[in-house]
Amino acid sequence: MKLAIYPGSFDPVTNGHIEIISRASKLFDKLIVLVSVNMFKPASFTIEERKELLEETVAHEGFTNVEVDSFDGLLIDYFNRRKADVIVRGLRAITDFEYEFQMAQTNRRLCYKAETIFLASKTEYTYLSSSMVKQIATFGGDISDFVPEYILDRIVKRLKK
Ligand code: COA
Repeated sequence: MKLAIYPGSFDPVTNGHIEIISRASKLFDKLIVLVSVNMFKPASFTIEERKELLEETVAHEGFTNVEVDSFDGLLIDYFNRRKADVIVRGLRAITDFEYEFQMAQTNRRLCYKAETIFLASKTEYTYLSSSMVKQIATFGGDISDFVPEYILDRIVKRLKK
């Protein structure tokens, strides 16, 4: 059984993330979407809130082989504990590459078994980011093109000034 982990801040989850989850879930027997902590980036949603939004997404989209979890330690420790095979990351544009390459190399240095697989984002999501969604919602803009309708209200209410 091939187990993949898709880690990220998911602060909050967007259509771009969901597209990666959907494709990765078809490539592996099981996919864990892992709400992780990027210590260099202050979050707007608590880990619990981010996890709940993802759980609702997984239920609505009918992703039967996808589990949502959170971890506030090193990704590689979680990877080893769950005996995972692969780390999945989405690549939006060339600007993502250097940072992603560095993370993949570091994780592999920490554990030689940790392979990272990159999925190229769908063109329409290459410009999308959680920060952009947060900024638009905070100032009352329309984010309905960027997050699914079933979690739209919760995100808007939580972020509106
Ligand atoms: N569609 C839309 N947006 C996407 C996307 C996609 N397919 N893929 C990434 N993004 C956006 C995210 O929304 C995020 O936007 P933001 O910066 O505005 O919040 C940005 O791209 C970065 O992606 P994200 O997946 O959140 O990465 P991150 O850099 O915040 O997280 C972790 C990286 C959490 C995986 C990393 O810090 C980690 O592994 N932390 C655990 C501790 C650890 O092990 N550290 C050592 C790592 S070598």
